[in-house]
Amino acid sequence: MSGTLLIKNKIKKFNKKIKVTGDKSLSIRWVLLASQATGKSRAHNLLMSEDVLAAINSIKKLGIKVKIYKNHCEIFGNGINGFNFKKNLTINAKNSGTFGRLILGLLIKSPKKIKLVGDKSLSKRDFSRITKPLQEFGAKFYFIKKNKLPLSILGSNTVKGINYLENKGSAQCKSSVMLAALSSSGTTSIKARKSRNHTELLFKYLKIDIKVKKTKKYDFIDIKPPKKIPAFNYQIPGDISSSAFFIALTTLTDDSKLLIKNVNINSSRVGIITILKKMGAKILLKNQKNYRGERISDIFIKSSKKLKAINCSSNLNSSAIDEFLIIFLIAARAKGISYFKDISELNQKESPRLDWGSKILNMMGVKTELTKDSIRIYGQPNLKIKKIITIKNYLKDHRIFMMSTIAALTCGGEWRIHDKDSINTSFPTFLNIIKKISNK
Ligand code: S3P
Repeated sequence: MSGTLLIKNKIKKFNKKIKVTGDKSLSIRWVLLASQATGKSRAHNLLMSEDVLAAINSIKKLGIKVKIYKNHCEIFGNGINGFNFKKNLTINAKNSGTFGRLILGLLIKSPKKIKLVGDKSLSKRDFSRITKPLQEFGAKFYFIKKNKLPLSILGSNTVKGINYLENKGSAQCKSSVMLAALSSSGTTSIKARKSRNHTELLFKYLKIDIKVKKTKKYDFIDIKPPKKIPAFNYQIPGDISSSAFFIALTTLTDDSKLLIKNVNINSSRVGIITILKKMGAKILLKNQKNYRGERISDIFIKSSKKLKAINCSSNLNSSAIDEFLIIFLIAARAKGISYFKDISELNQKESPRLDWGSKILNMMGVKTELTKDSIRIYGQPNLKIKKIITIKNYLKDHRIFMMSTIAALTCGGEWRIHDKDSINTSFPTFLNIIKKISNK
């Protein structure tokens, strides 16, 4: 916990063009898959944040050579299960739930015990959601505290594909099992609630034998292990989850316009755009193109004076899972009462985000009705905050910090937002971009 941001004034109108940093989900997946490929893989625009560095440092400890240059990163994979390391190894996932869960899928054959640790926030999160299916493959897990980090994993020599039902809509669980399938004999069959599908798209691009059948609620995925994975280069597109804060900033600032270049608008990630457009936000997708199964676009946003409340369909939950805090802020400025349901998963994130979202809106003078899995937000289009608001979330919840910053810049009042360094986990240039937008 360090650094406090002080904001006393709203942002003035702007008309700017920006670029956000690389997609976090794709960056971590590239690191992990490149570590299993044979030969030299290269990534451009890899997100250089603490979460991705935790992944890079861990695969280095697992015996993989990595070279980081100014503009790109190279990973020299040793093939599937090519990790090579000493006894009593500890790897540190720091704040990253995605890396912490996905790496376990690559360790199910590890002949030596490996300890996985994380920071205070990650050590509060549930790991049984992934150790349970990985046990089915034959891996053994040792916990000190029930279902929480630190844990140790010992792999098994003979791992066979499993049938797995993923019922939470968690891409981390689905992807971890998919990575485990790479080194398991036979077919792994997954029935998964809808969630982001980057791992599926990367497997397809790498010509791994994967079949995906989509129904309305579930995806049915069959994977057969490949003999090897070719080394591959990747140009990581901008992160929609980072862009979301600037989409909100522009929507809520009078007479403003913003163009965000080259963002991944994969349909499993764009719930924020669908939801905000339904609420009256002015968002346009320009220059769309395909890239290795992903969809990339520039995003053009104009301020919106007439935002209306939404009764949000839970079908949109998975594609907006990381964006709800900023969506709640928009709802706080919309006309009418917004309602979001079936979102208990938000309380499983870096900090309990559903509770925190409600708490911050209340501090702003916005009425909410909160249950374990839903929130009603009584919007105030003319909200003008006149008091001092202090945000003390010390769980490195970068999205709490960034949502609070956008609230301060668009709703007024005097804000002291603690834990500034949390942005380094996902979006280290966040405040630099704010500065760039603020400068005339
Ligand atoms: C992620 C999946 C989501 C998301 C996280 C990144 C991923 O978590 O919240 O920020 O890259 O797979 P869950 O899978 O737990 O929903």
